[in-house]
Amino acid sequence: MQFNQNYLRLQESYLFSDIAHRVQKFAQAHPDAKILRMGIGDVTLPLAPAVVSAMRAAVEEQGRAQTFRGYGPEQGYDFLREAIRGYYARRGISLAADEIFVSDGAKSDLGNILDIFDVCNTVLIPDPVYPVYVDTNVMAGRKIVFADAVRANGFLPMPDEKTDADIIYICSPNNPTGAAYTKAQLQAWVDYANARGAVILYDAAYERFVTEEGCARSIFEAEGAEECAIEFCSFSKTAGFTGTRCGYTVVPQALKRNGISCNKLWLRRQTTKFNGVAYIVQRGAAAVFGEEGERQIEENLAVYRRNAARIAACLDRLGVFYTGGKNSPYLWLECPGFADSRKFFDYLLEKAAVVGTPGSGFGKNGEGYFRLTAFASEEATAEAAERMERLLG
Ligand code: MLT
Repeated sequence: MQFNQNYLRLQESYLFSDIAHRVQKFAQAHPDAKILRMGIGDVTLPLAPAVVSAMRAAVEEQGRAQTFRGYGPEQGYDFLREAIRGYYARRGISLAADEIFVSDGAKSDLGNILDIFDVCNTVLIPDPVYPVYVDTNVMAGRKIVFADAVRANGFLPMPDEKTDADIIYICSPNNPTGAAYTKAQLQAWVDYANARGAVILYDAAYERFVTEEGCARSIFEAEGAEECAIEFCSFSKTAGFTGTRCGYTVVPQALKRNGISCNKLWLRRQTTKFNGVAYIVQRGAAAVFGEEGERQIEENLAVYRRNAARIAACLDRLGVFYTGGKNSPYLWLECPGFADSRKFFDYLLEKAAVVGTPGSGFGKNGEGYFRLTAFASEEATAEAAERMERLLG
């Protein structure tokens, strides 16, 4: 018996578990400290009332013999897939219901999708990046090449003809930098992927945060993307589902390689390894797309946007370089006075009891940078901004 040796090539623990552990240690040593958490991108506002009432009604249904439901379709109930299809249609993107797969979140699907790709593929991943893309490929033993996302390119790397890649990860608006591609920039990636027969794995978990005209919200805004791209999305950040768990993945029917349908393989994988998302949760997710649900989640998003603006204003006053915050709940700042982002993390925690995420946890280009989220409460965000200004001013 041998364990998967690739796991030995991973860092000791997952980035956010590591941070949680450090914060817990600090909290134990300083039981009176009021810790302000802006590290992991976890939401703080509750589920929208429309979502809660849809879930309540679903609970009632599950408690009556006449309306009880057992196993559901692995790809998701029609009512939710139709609601998602309508959401894309309103943005001018036409999908078929069988191209939409409901899941328990983008993170799971981003990892699971690798089941259908050969281990011999080379993957291209931006650096810095959401650590799940790298870790899941290390687990599988795939070759990884990196695309530098640095200040000089606005943290938005563009295709390089000299780089050969079979699987390309794009996250826009980006985690951790908050940078968002325009439609024209995504078109360049789609053209590059189609010219090479590569596949793009597009993480759109933060698409609802886009406010700037011209920034794309879906890879399918680019022409020809249905022949090369899979899109992952989530209700976590947009509708407060981090603890409720629901997301979806779009695998177009037109995405084929050597006559093999990607959609068919993913369907086969999901029907074998996944039993679908709870009916109650799917009813809640569908309510997000109703008139009331849309309005209510927009109100919550407005709070997070105000938080981002508040942190941005604080950094402006401090004269600290940062990016993000406009189309994203993340602000990516240069660590003021520190070259080592872990040292800055410790400093901010010890001196101000403010938690962020050290940039080095997202890749080598993240060193010297730091990520703050706008997901704390308005009060906590205001207090964190004050404490940072006092400490760093
Ligand atoms: C983050 O902080 O990067 C996210 O919350 C992680 C995630 O969505 O899994």
